[in-house]
Amino acid sequence: MKDALFDTAADAGTEIDFHDILFKYTLDSFVRIGFGTELGALKQKEKLPFAIAFDAAQTQIAQRHIFPFWQTAELANRIFRPWRSTMDDYVKVVNNFAHEVVEQRRNDPDKEKRSDLLSRFMNTRDENGNILNDTQLRDIVLNFIIAGRDTTAQAISWTFYELARHPEIEEKLLAEVLDSINEDMTPNQLYEAIKEMKYAHAVFYEVLRHYPSVPVNQKYALTDDVWPDGTHIKAGDYVMWCPHAQGRLEAVWGADAKEFRPERWLIDGSLRKVSQGEWPAFHGGPRVCLGEFLRLTKSSDTGDAGDALPPSEAVPFYADSWAEHYVHEQPDSADEGRLAHVRGETRVVGEMRYRWKLAFA
Ligand code: HEM
Repeated sequence: MKDALFDTAADAGTEIDFHDILFKYTLDSFVRIGFGTELGALKQKEKLPFAIAFDAAQTQIAQRHIFPFWQTAELANRIFRPWRSTMDDYVKVVNNFAHEVVEQRRNDPDKEKRSDLLSRFMNTRDENGNILNDTQLRDIVLNFIIAGRDTTAQAISWTFYELARHPEIEEKLLAEVLDSINEDMTPNQLYEAIKEMKYAHAVFYEVLRHYPSVPVNQKYALTDDVWPDGTHIKAGDYVMWCPHAQGRLEAVWGADAKEFRPERWLIDGSLRKVSQGEWPAFHGGPRVCLGEFLRLTKSSDTGDAGDALPPSEAVPFYADSWAEHYVHEQPDSADEGRLAHVRGETRVVGEMRYRWKLAFA
């Protein structure tokens, strides 16, 4: 990525679309890490058909959320503009891609030796002792890409945006990178080194405080609940909260809430612990982001897609993410009441909405 794209563009003095490159980078990386398959998005000038269909489907889903007459509008499009692609077309392209990935793996003579995420799921049995069928595996493939690609690409884009605006932060980060990492490291050493890069974590957390990749979130309550501020929630209530607004809230982050200041995440050189309710960038409770630790590793990885951690090395990080999450993000003992409070889905939402209410109070 560095040689082929950035250096070439810098030497020629041409502009590049950094955001677009990062979307290709995370797509290539997650497909490689998760399924051991080379997609080659970065090598292509144009977008891959999978990425086009995937993005178009996401846009259309978002439109369906806000436009109550979407069914009529889509039907009208089918009749009067039959040349336009429809949701069915996009879904077909995306499904075919996922099925191909699964099919290739089934026919892979070395599949027993592989240990990437897909292989592990292929060797897993469900609660009835059956292996997962093609549809379940397809859904796992897509879930992994949907959850990881856009979120991570956005977070890295915003990181570079803020670094460009704050050369002094860039300098400190670079010093830590040069101090902690060298090109001779094995993937395991690299992993251990990244875990210790406190300033890199602080920069990244600060980016996600300002620009959470999931800026608005929503849930339906499963059961009645009472939130910490006394608000009563009824089963079936629709609740929405806004990590974007909450991250800029002085009541939560202090008078300098709007400043980009990674140092706020460090206390005596250690990373500050915040509860999932205070900083819901990865959601919380039982539905917390499963990829948090892998994503942190990916975002701190300064190499290119070709240098991405090999699947066998990367998967344990993914599996570790739960444990790591509890170490880094769960409230400490002083907050045990809150920890108990976040065991059920509604209750997590309750706590977050409580903050959200503050944001707009
Ligand atoms: C900066 C990067 C990321 C951010 C900010 C982020 C954030 C989030 C958030 C807010 C949710 C909760 C969504 C909801 O149900 O309301 C979530 C869920 C999830 N994330 Fe991430 N994510 C990131 C990267 C990743 C990566 C790299 C992976 C996988 C490799 C991943 C896997 C998942 C999965 C599987 C869920 C669903 C968990 C569940 O519902 O049980 N995420 N993420």
